[in-house]
Amino acid sequence: MKILVTGGLGFIGSHTVVQLQNSGYQVVIIDNLSNASLEVLEGIVSITGQPPIFEKLDLKSKVAVQTFFKTHQDIQGVIHFAASKAVGESVVNPLMYYENNVNTLVYVLQELTKLKVSNFIFSSSCTVYGQADSMPISETAPIKEAQSPYGNTKQIGEEIIKDTCQVYPNLQSIALRYFNPIGAHKSAKIGELPIGVPQNLIPYITQTAIGKRDQLSVFGNDYPTKDGTCVRDYIHVVDTAKAHVVALQRLLNNENQSNFEVFNIGTGQGSTVLEVIKTFEKVSNIKLNYNIVDRRPGDVVTAYADTSKANKILGWQAEYDLEDAILSAWNWQKTLKKD
Ligand code: WQD
Repeated sequence: MKILVTGGLGFIGSHTVVQLQNSGYQVVIIDNLSNASLEVLEGIVSITGQPPIFEKLDLKSKVAVQTFFKTHQDIQGVIHFAASKAVGESVVNPLMYYENNVNTLVYVLQELTKLKVSNFIFSSSCTVYGQADSMPISETAPIKEAQSPYGNTKQIGEEIIKDTCQVYPNLQSIALRYFNPIGAHKSAKIGELPIGVPQNLIPYITQTAIGKRDQLSVFGNDYPTKDGTCVRDYIHVVDTAKAHVVALQRLLNNENQSNFEVFNIGTGQGSTVLEVIKTFEKVSNIKLNYNIVDRRPGDVVTAYADTSKANKILGWQAEYDLEDAILSAWNWQKTLKKD
């Protein structure tokens, strides 16, 4: 059975390709290589021994998308990761985000609605909740005004899919709202490859520890939390990847209750930035050089998932804990060149 993974050379995409291949699916990857390199393809093959079909393609070209689906009529499912995801970048370049995250989604959905049956998994995000009023955050929490154009593209994306599913019953969809995916495959052959200065906490920590960065800046310790730093739900990227396979199987087996379902993908545990640093120091036996600076605009104070819906309905549960995830990120960082 052939599954298309858009953005399949990205961080979560590449780990999902591995899990799909391990589950016996034939995988077609589309990636425009704007935020990934072909080395990731080698990493995937070195893990699974199965070369996915790869097509370098930019989904911003409607014609390219139409041509692709004409030559791949036998695709049984699509997992759509291709999007830009840097919150700060989206604030300074909103139109790039709306073009890259929204137009591309529309072009893919237009082709899927022409197919008799199509199963569509959408890469969404806890960002859609904004600062939720109560913890843990459930799927029924109100969707608040987006904190950034990036978050808005995820909210808009879910709305587009929901509206389309109402008109095209052949389109069966699930949106997965990830919390904070971190870490790397245990082989350390694939992992997170931020281009330039990392925006996210874990790669910044590991790059500081390896000597690529001088010091980690902790963005504020005056929040109303146990130690004053923000709380997030850090989930191992392999657990996140496995959730996509389970969600796809739900659609392929026609087990879904409606043709648009939403699930939180997290561990259900919140950790502060300082707790993450302490955990890194414990698993790596390295004292991390960090200092406290001003808050980062747009940060929510606390976000961790109520995962009971995914646990019960998908039969999916995160298996790795924070230590496992951070150690896997460190093992991956040690394989990378320092320059
Ligand atoms: C986590 C915490 C920072 C860097 C991410 C992605 C976003 C979305 C949701 C997918 C915050 C603090 C960070 C640093 C720090 N993912 N921090 N120093 O903001 O929750 O968003 O997950 O949809 O695309 O960006 O994750 O890792 O950026 O920050 O103190 O150098 O770490 O303030 O409290 P975030 P993050």
